[in-house]
Amino acid sequence: MASVEIRDVRKAFGSTQVIHGVNIEIEDGEFVILVGPSGCGKSTLLRMIAGLENISGGEVRIGDRVVNDVPPKERDIAMVFQNYALYPHMTVADNMAFSMKLRNAPKPEIEQRVSKAAGILGLEKLLDRYPRQLSGGQRQRVAMGRAIVRDPQVFLFDEPLSNLDAKLRVQMRTEIKELHQRLKTTTVYVTHDQIEAMTMADKIVVMHDGIVEQMGAPLELYDRPANLFVAGFIGSPSMNFVKGKIRAGAQPSFEADTGGVYPLNTAPAGSDGMPVVYGIRPEHFQLADNGLSAEVVVVEPTGSETQVVAKIGTQELVCIFRERITAKPGETIRIAPDPNLVHVFDAQSGARIS
Ligand SMILES: Nc1ncnc2c1ncn2[C@@H]1O[C@H](COP(=O)(O)OP(=O)(O)O)[C@@H](O)[C@H]1O
Ligand SMILES: [Mg+2]
Repeated sequence: MASVEIRDVRKAFGSTQVIHGVNIEIEDGEFVILVGPSGCGKSTLLRMIAGLENISGGEVRIGDRVVNDVPPKERDIAMVFQNYALYPHMTVADNMAFSMKLRNAPKPEIEQRVSKAAGILGLEKLLDRYPRQLSGGQRQRVAMGRAIVRDPQVFLFDEPLSNLDAKLRVQMRTEIKELHQRLKTTTVYVTHDQIEAMTMADKIVVMHDGIVEQMGAPLELYDRPANLFVAGFIGSPSMNFVKGKIRAGAQPSFEADTGGVYPLNTAPAGSDGMPVVYGIRPEHFQLADNGLSAEVVVVEPTGSETQVVAKIGTQELVCIFRERITAKPGETIRIAPDPNLVHVFDAQSGARIS
């Protein structure tokens, strides 16, 4: 196992700069997830750690070694891809053994490692099958088995669950997390799915257009997003954003451009009249007699909770309530944002104010 350090790393394809100076420290044994929308540079960064893409600027360290010029097979990493990349003409056992055979490892050692990995992943009964005889989830497990057999310093995963259906994705998420708790191998995992990131990571790195927007523990990002991008990206359904102005004074409040006055606990000194974006998560509204008057637009019960789209002035807000809602579209309900859980962002820069 080893730490991974990414220092001011840049990448250009021809004259197009796609990674603009990224710094990430990954501790030995940590499970770090790079998350962000498609095209933000996650795979490129992962491929630079793997050595599959050269580094235009900065430094990548694995353990205490700078690996910029070290070829992939000497970096002691194992990568798992979205498309599994299994050899179709080889059995499960041979797919898993392949890298060790290439290295001329002794046969008993290969057998012992393959059988151990198969045990960890529940593949014992499938060792003689070919990839075409496996389900998507089983193939993904073989791809992980192949990585485990190599017992690398670092696991690199690039969207390994994207080809699986929703139910299997949830199951594999748990399996990968369990696997990490067991093996404690340093892991860098790329996904565009913020739920995967929230549920699996020790540390999340939110990327956007080739930069790091914020990095931290999942609940840190949820509780204190540094800017509008992270606030909108982390959490599902997304945070509601309302444009307007701060009204400071003894009892501060937020006056929405779309109509309505929302509660605020505190306002920074000198912020009266300041244009801001008021952020409130759907799950942070309550039904309350002293709440804001809102017109019901859509009610979506899921059983455990009810999602309601309601309008304050011309602003549509998504709210989630634990209780069941009998109100019909067009009727009025009273909803209260919890002022302790409100986020305020600078309207210009998008940076968090409070
Ligand atoms: N080989 C390449 N040549 C030119 N541009 C590339 C190449 N690979 C990736 N890119 C560009 O780099 C950016 C980041 O891509 P990528 O790392 O694949 O994003 P992600 O994995 O976050 O979806 C994209 O704009 C993509 O078009
Ligand atoms: Mg990608």
